[in-house]
Amino acid sequence: MKKPFAWETGIAWKNKDRIVVRGYDVNALTGNISFAEHFHLVLRGELPTPEAGRMTDAIMVNMAEHAMSPSSATVRFATSGGADLNAAVAAGVAGIGRLHGTADRPAEMFLGVAERAERDGLPDAEAAAKVVREMRERRERMPGFHHAQHIRDPRTVRLLGLSDELGVTGRYVTIARAMEDATEEVFGRRIWLNGPGSMGCVGLDMGYEPLQLKAMFIVCRSLSLCAHSIEEVTREKGWRASDNSDMVQPLSLEMQGPDHYDGPADRTL
Ligand SMILES: CC(C)(COP(=O)(O)OP(=O)(O)OC[C@H]1O[C@@H](n2cnc3c(N)ncnc32)[C@H](O)[C@@H]1OP(=O)(O)O)[C@@H](O)C(=O)NCCC(=O)NCCS
Repeated sequence: MKKPFAWETGIAWKNKDRIVVRGYDVNALTGNISFAEHFHLVLRGELPTPEAGRMTDAIMVNMAEHAMSPSSATVRFATSGGADLNAAVAAGVAGIGRLHGTADRPAEMFLGVAERAERDGLPDAEAAAKVVREMRERRERMPGFHHAQHIRDPRTVRLLGLSDELGVTGRYVTIARAMEDATEEVFGRRIWLNGPGSMGCVGLDMGYEPLQLKAMFIVCRSLSLCAHSIEEVTREKGWRASDNSDMVQPLSLEMQGPDHYDGPADRTL
């Protein structure tokens, strides 16, 4: 006999009186763990170590907002067409892909380097250099490397530094660093690891799967997408960039500096 349909899940259950997430009553979690720890719990089934909780939180803060990028510009345009908040945010999330917000693809590549080292009996650093060389020969872009606007992404230094400080750094951060080192010889100049690339290697060293890292990016960047939609609908009248202004590159860095910012001035914590 066929089993009757039911939502079988290991994530959560609820009845009239209680909501239980991965075995914890939601009210016991509430007020006692951070959202980043909750992210780890919901996605992976267990609370993180304090170090992984702090590193997850750091990544999510680091990656949440990035001024105008493909996804936030998409949200702005969708909102300027009259899309509701949820629809505009969904459009922005759809703009996260192979070339933007991709922590999963660099993670897959670093895993591939580790497999390659094992298969060919090579030290990780040699396998890393080999993969860089082979990708360059195929004229294949390395996911998680270079940034169209920053060139050297300022987020990387902080994320990798924190990962070292917290003792998270392991095999995959080391592989990512070895790949970056190898670019000097292969390209004749350094091609820098970018923010999502550092998220990919640090995330693997915390035990996240590539797809879970993609989820981490979507979750934290959705904050930005909500903010951009709400600001757009609050301050602008719609049909943006259609008229009455010169032709521009909508993602140009020149339009994202302090001249186009009217929030609070620089301040310290
Ligand atoms: C994002 C990206 C499209 C930006 O490209 P861009 O600024 O327009 O850079 P260009 O295409 O002009 O590349 C200039 C040179 O830099 C090098 N380069 C740029 N990104 C590279 C990468 N990811 N891997 C290897 N070399 C790269 C190449 O030498 C390239 O010259 P070539 O075309 O002769 O091979 C590109 O860097 C990329 O595909 N990165 C990987 C995806 C990624 O990590 N995205 C997340 C960004 S937050």
